[in-house]
Amino acid sequence: MRAIEISSGVKWVGTLDPQLRVFDVVMRAEHGTTYNSYLVVGKEKTALIETNKGKFSSLFIENLSRVVDPAKIDYIVMNHMEPDHSGALPELLTVAPNAKLVMTKPGKSLVENIINRPLPEAILVSDGDIIDLGGKTLEFMIEPFLHWPDTMFTYLKEDEILFPCDFLGAHYCDDRLFDDEVGNYDYAFKYYFQAIMRPFKEHVRRAVARVEGLKVKVICPSHGPIIRSGVKKALDHYKSWAAPEEPEGKRLLLVLYVSAYGNTTKMADAVAEGARSQGVDTEIFDLTGTDDSMLLDEVEKASGIAVGSCTINGDALPHAWNFLSSLLTVKVKGKTAGAFGSYGWSGEGPVMLTERLKGLKFKVPEAPVRIRLVPTPEDLENCRAFGAKLAEAIKS
Ligand code: FEO
Repeated sequence: MRAIEISSGVKWVGTLDPQLRVFDVVMRAEHGTTYNSYLVVGKEKTALIETNKGKFSSLFIENLSRVVDPAKIDYIVMNHMEPDHSGALPELLTVAPNAKLVMTKPGKSLVENIINRPLPEAILVSDGDIIDLGGKTLEFMIEPFLHWPDTMFTYLKEDEILFPCDFLGAHYCDDRLFDDEVGNYDYAFKYYFQAIMRPFKEHVRRAVARVEGLKVKVICPSHGPIIRSGVKKALDHYKSWAAPEEPEGKRLLLVLYVSAYGNTTKMADAVAEGARSQGVDTEIFDLTGTDDSMLLDEVEKASGIAVGSCTINGDALPHAWNFLSSLLTVKVKGKTAGAFGSYGWSGEGPVMLTERLKGLKFKVPEAPVRIRLVPTPEDLENCRAFGAKLAEAIKS
């Protein structure tokens, strides 16, 4: 892959990974991805922004060497340290021994534990620091939790180009590279937001507002197309997807359950009824008939969840566990939760689910409700009381 000019003195020098189908174990990547790296050549100094995934080190250095002698690189700007950004660093440093590394303080601590060597010579930058390359000024914007604590953006003032790391990226591989040439990749762009940025919405809102205050002609993210025609559209999407979910005053409890014989279903209905009796809205989902990924928006909107599962062979059912595992990309800390379920022998399921809910940092005000086999009217009253308690916790 040849280097591609973005503006005078600024080139894409990354690699393409069209065969990738799963990124970081948990993300689908039907269209592969790109590991974007950018060379910025000033009148006096040269900077490389981002490196590459370790597996692509040799290819990356080969591509880079076609446009610059790596020994002439003065700075390597590390916006973020996840291995798809830092993996090529050790090999790169062997051919770019004169380069000074530029990163945030949290980034240094992370990368030292990724490449397993100390970097005492690294330049640690703060928000607003600049490096003048000679007619090309790099300004660093510290933007933590987009999506790691180390993240920063780099802004090239003269060219009005923003290098925002994973922010505004997509796993979408197309060697035409620019957003107005690759065709519609809206799905990949949104999926990337949901999988990577969704847990950090307040940080997204802060960053979007900041970027809107800059003059930005081109956005050069770390993955996927370079955005030159759709800058406003991309920012508007992020603004809309990161908008606060819970309207003032609205309270919602999701009741999600899996039931073998219908007993846990009856419990779910009673839990929801109890919550409604306290003025909290409810939505009920049978986890055998839902796609977990479609429930994530519902969880974000909700103030709390009640998860029900019957117990089979000493465990809750996979539907409940899979649902809880899918919450990896949703911020649930502080939401209210509780577990319930029917059982025949020993009833461990709801107990185990309760511990998991605590581990996910839900607020868990009540012990689990467990009912042996078919619930009696009195059992259902207990379920209603359980739902009412969850509702009270939501309102408190
Ligand atoms: Fe592109 Fe956070 O890794």
